[in-house]
Order: sequence, then structure tokens, then C-alpha cells
Amino acid sequence: MESSARHLHLLINDLLEYSRVGRTEHRPHWVEATAVVQQACRQLETEIGQCQARVGFEGLPQVYADDTLLVQLFQNLIGNGIKYARDGVRPELQITAAGEEGGWHFAVRDNGIGMEPGETERIFVIFQRLHTAEKYEGTGIGLSICKKIVERHGGRIWAESQPGGGSTFHFTLPGPDSDTAGAA
Ligand SMILES: Nc1ncnc2c1ncn2[C@@H]1O[C@H](COP(=O)(O)OP(=O)(O)O)[C@@H](O)[C@H]1O
Ligand SMILES: [Mg+2]
Repeated sequence: MESSARHLHLLINDLLEYSRVGRTEHRPHWVEATAVVQQACRQLETEIGQCQARVGFEGLPQVYADDTLLVQLFQNLIGNGIKYARDGVRPELQITAAGEEGGWHFAVRDNGIGMEPGETERIFVIFQRLHTAEKYEGTGIGLSICKKIVERHGGRIWAESQPGGGSTFHFTLPGPDSDTAGAA
């Protein structure tokens, strides 16, 4: 009873967040990706502290983005990297960025449970989960929020993974002068 009330609470919050991403004004400007990742980590302080997770990042660029949405994106990806850890293995995440034609390519890599390569597409669909709520609490909304955020910036998001071999979530962020960036 208590856990279903808690689940309902999580579900309502996640759905509100999902709907807000589409409705609020998209305000891109130049932001330091390092500051965005640091803010996301502060918001995950409890989770990071509980499992002594390490989140590494270095030399991240300035990007043309809506910083509120970008914090939300990293918070979801880092939160998953911590949650889907292997039993008894301390979560280690590495966040990197590389310049590419027309913008940046980010990668968030973890050392967690991973998944079958054939599952890496459906996880971006709302409510799709690969695990039971007993083993890992969740609503299956986070990655659909991530997809919405990245697409609003004119980018693309995808995952690469192997069972037991960790996962890497990739996304692109076009620069301000590309056709789709900044479109509302
Ligand atoms: N870093 C990850 N490692 C392994 N599996 C993941 C990871 N991130 C997401 N998943 C899988 O994708 C599903 C969808 O993720 P998400 O939309 O964030 O929902 P939730 O975390 O609430 O279940 C998760 O239930 C999990 O099965
Ligand atoms: Mg999640």
C-alpha cells in the first residue's frame, strides 16, 4: 500500500515533468556544460552519496542550449547510470564531449548492468522498462523526457550497451547556426 502510493507520487511527478518539457518556452543561450553537469550532480547528491558513485567529466564545452532542460537531461542520464549499477560494484560514470560537424556529441558512459543491444531503442519510448519495479524503482518516463529535450534542441539521442558491460548514452547538440537548433 505504502509502496504503491509512493509509486503513484513518482508517476505523477514524472508525468508533470514530461508535459512541462513540451510546454515551457525554449530559451537557448550559451551555457557551460560543466556548470550544467555540476548542477545535475548537486540535485542527485543523495543518490550519489548513498552509493559513493564517481562522476567524471573534464573539458566540457560551451553549448547553445536551454540550461534548465539540459540539467534535467543530465540528471536523468546520470541518475540512471547510478540506479542501474551492478550489485556490489561502485557506479563510475564518465561524461565526455567531442566536437563534430555542426555541433557537439556528448556521451555518458556507465559501468552498470547494461542491456541487450536489441533493447536500446524501446527504452526511449514512454513507460518502457526492462526491469520490475521491485528490483529497480522507476516509472519508465525519464528517457522519454531526455529524447524530448534533445529533439527540442535539434539533436539526436541513442544508446549502446551490452549486458554486464555497461551502457553509453549518446546525444548531439547542434550549434546555434544549424537549421533546427533554437526552433521552439
Ligand atoms: N544506464 C542504464 N543502464 C541499464 N539500463 C538502463 C539505463 N538507463 C535506462 N535503462 C533501462 O531503460 C529503462 C527506461 O529508463 P527510464 O526511462 O529512465 O525509466 P526508469 O528509470 O524510471 O525505469 C529502465 O527501466 C532500464 O530498464
Ligand atoms: Mg530513469
